[in-house]
Amino acid sequence: METMVITGTRKGIGRYLAEYYVGKGYNVIGCSRSAADYELENYEHYELDVADEKAVGKMVRSVARDHGGIDILLNNAGIASMNHFLLTPLSTVERIFATNVFGTFNFCREVGKAMAKQRYGRIVNFATVAAPLKLEGEAAYAASKAAVANLTQLIAKELAEFNITVNAVGPTPVATDLIRGVSDDKIDDLINTQAIKRMGEYRDISNVTDFLIQKESDFITGQVIYLGGVS
Ligand SMILES: NC(=O)c1ccc[n+]([C@@H]2O[C@H](COP(=O)([O-])OP(=O)(O)OC[C@H]3O[C@@H](n4cnc5c(N)ncnc54)[C@H](OP(=O)(O)O)[C@@H]3O)[C@@H](O)[C@H]2O)c1
Repeated sequence: METMVITGTRKGIGRYLAEYYVGKGYNVIGCSRSAADYELENYEHYELDVADEKAVGKMVRSVARDHGGIDILLNNAGIASMNHFLLTPLSTVERIFATNVFGTFNFCREVGKAMAKQRYGRIVNFATVAAPLKLEGEAAYAASKAAVANLTQLIAKELAEFNITVNAVGPTPVATDLIRGVSDDKIDDLINTQAIKRMGEYRDISNVTDFLIQKESDFITGQVIYLGGVS
């Protein structure tokens, strides 16, 4: 049974992915700042902040020890905040970077060490179309995800010798709490810039992660796959 770590599994896309991959026969270990209000067979939940370097190291070491390694990492935990750049306090930018960039960095590094030992691994990070589309009102969020995309491409090179691939999926809007505060007009405008003009669904994301984590995808690394025809 392959072991998969997914971050941010309390709700939204992360919860869907936890349920989906347990259903596909994976051993799934999830995490988020709060406890999960659901239980699944072959699912374990850690309560931590992905930006907490020590807590992440501790979790990853205990998962690798208990399960004899980690095969797959889905770095899904993320937060957003929409505001005009001129009205965005630095504390908001720091909060967003702490989760999206530092959290992704922490998990890539710690899980990367466990994967390097076993000389195998699949890492998928979470980008967003807000970065390539340069969406107004999302300066901090888009910049944080641009950093995630660059980190993905760079560490793909450093981890290739260990047979670890590192890629990212860049979703379009998907109806979760993350975008609850965004007006319908804004979402419609965004969707109209996509080649394929519809909301993203959970299955669009698992379709990409399914492809990237399969053993046969061993020649695909450093790629950021945007959905909906955004490039
Ligand atoms: N929904 C969209 O339209 C969309 C579009 C493009 C990209 N994405 C990306 O997809 C990913 C998932 O988004 P979503 O829509 O599912 O968001 P969501 O519904 O708001 O869920 C976010 C999840 O991450 C966890 N989380 C947040 N900060 C955390 C932290 N510091 N440490 C640990 N866990 C944390 C939350 O649990 P706790 O609150 O318990 O910590 C929750 O489980 C994000 O990376 C997001 O940027 C989403």
